[in-house]
Amino acid sequence: MNQQETPAALILIFGATGDLAKRKLFPSLYRLYRKGSLSDQFAVIGTARRDWTNDTFRQHVKEAIADSTKQLEQLDAFISHFYYQAHDVSDSSSYRSLKALADRLDDTYSLQGNRLFYLAMAPEFFGTIADHVKADGLTDTNGYNRLVIEKPFGHDLPSAEKLNQQIRQSFEERDIYRIDHYLGKEMVQNIEAIRFANALFEPLWNNRYISNIQVTSSETLGVEERGRYYEKSGALKDMVQNHLMQMVALLAMEPPIKLSTDEIRSEKVKVFRALRPITKENVDQYFVRGQYGSGEIEGEPVKGYRQEVNVDPQSNTETFVAGKLMIDNFRWAGVPFYIRTGKRMPSKSTKIVIQFKDIPMNLYYQPDQPLAPNLLVIHIQPEEGITLHLNAKRAGQHLLTNPVKLSYANNSVDGMNTPEAYEKLLNDALRGDATNFTHWDEVALSWRFVDVISDYWEMKQAAFPNYEAGSTGPKAADELLEKDGFFWWPLSTLEVDVCN
Ligand code: BG6
Repeated sequence: MNQQETPAALILIFGATGDLAKRKLFPSLYRLYRKGSLSDQFAVIGTARRDWTNDTFRQHVKEAIADSTKQLEQLDAFISHFYYQAHDVSDSSSYRSLKALADRLDDTYSLQGNRLFYLAMAPEFFGTIADHVKADGLTDTNGYNRLVIEKPFGHDLPSAEKLNQQIRQSFEERDIYRIDHYLGKEMVQNIEAIRFANALFEPLWNNRYISNIQVTSSETLGVEERGRYYEKSGALKDMVQNHLMQMVALLAMEPPIKLSTDEIRSEKVKVFRALRPITKENVDQYFVRGQYGSGEIEGEPVKGYRQEVNVDPQSNTETFVAGKLMIDNFRWAGVPFYIRTGKRMPSKSTKIVIQFKDIPMNLYYQPDQPLAPNLLVIHIQPEEGITLHLNAKRAGQHLLTNPVKLSYANNSVDGMNTPEAYEKLLNDALRGDATNFTHWDEVALSWRFVDVISDYWEMKQAAFPNYEAGSTGPKAADELLEKDGFFWWPLSTLEVDVCN
């Protein structure tokens, strides 16, 4: 095995005919294979209800890969590792046949009993599958048995607790890999390097020098064909409880004593523990919700959320959330972390803006006016990089300054595309590195935080729709910052020439 190679493994994908497997898992496995990260000692069993043959499945995988890339070297060799078995998730005999196939492939490919169970399907089956794979002997091997589980992990704290208890009957916490695909994004992983590998930032990374932090993840897409799921979820559970809170934890955590899974997770947990709890009395002070009405995206008319397929025409579900998180610890006391996410906004963009405090006095022209504050912008997507906003002397004028930007484009440095989040996360799970997956404690604490807000919102009918598709969200989201003397840095002014 070369150093980059993952150990031999059997990957069992439950929900293998679904969208996630097609768009993310097959192309990611293929990229790992082409790069030599996946050795020849691997096999994939796809399962789902449909009555497919191995050949139908292989053809499906092939098409999924051809849709994702033009580089198709070694595709046939790769595909030959794929097997399919029709499966009924609640029937033990189905698992026994699966076990027979798994044991056979274990011998054929010398897989050393290593098994990765990837649940790429509706969450209501997670518990049942975890129960069966253990009870029906699929985990009786000499190798590792890991469970990779997609979001949503529950829909509130009690349901998450129940699911967790159920899967813990079959898998140890250290063998459970809860996916939050934002943690696989290159620039989200880069937050730690920016903070902990630079003498420049860490000394300033606190309430003495930072005035506020803004995390925005905006999308132009609407709810598409996911109305049924989204109606029960909304932006708070779909994006805030996981992706946005995870980014906040990485921005706010103390330096871990080393960059190991346990140390990083334990620092993130401390951030969640320090979050100022929201109560139902003060939700409106800290959180704002929105739902898009009809409008225009890139010049094209689009319908409102309530007119989307599988959405209640009176829906009270939010497609936009803005919030203010306070982290009541020594480092962050008094520094608001503003978060914002929404569908049908003007651009697809995830950015973090760290706004530094104004300098004590302005020696330049207009001494009574502060200079533009220094900003550190972390571009998560679609561009990847960082920009530092500074002030510099205007040429020829000794009393005037100009704003200048120092930009670093992450993905134009070595000319290669950064690996997709799923590619990295699959690679990590195969290698046994759980750092970029969420620990149960993080999941529980973040549900506890958002549950109060969602319970309150469920009880109160909102005056929806309250923002036009293609706009930056409801007015109340701007007021949330205005009352603190801040404003959202307009994403369009933060764009830089970093290429994708
Ligand atoms: C998913 C949400 O977790 O993240 C989707 O369920 C959302 O609603 C998506 O569109 C956004 O991910 P990305 O990587 O496109 O920013």
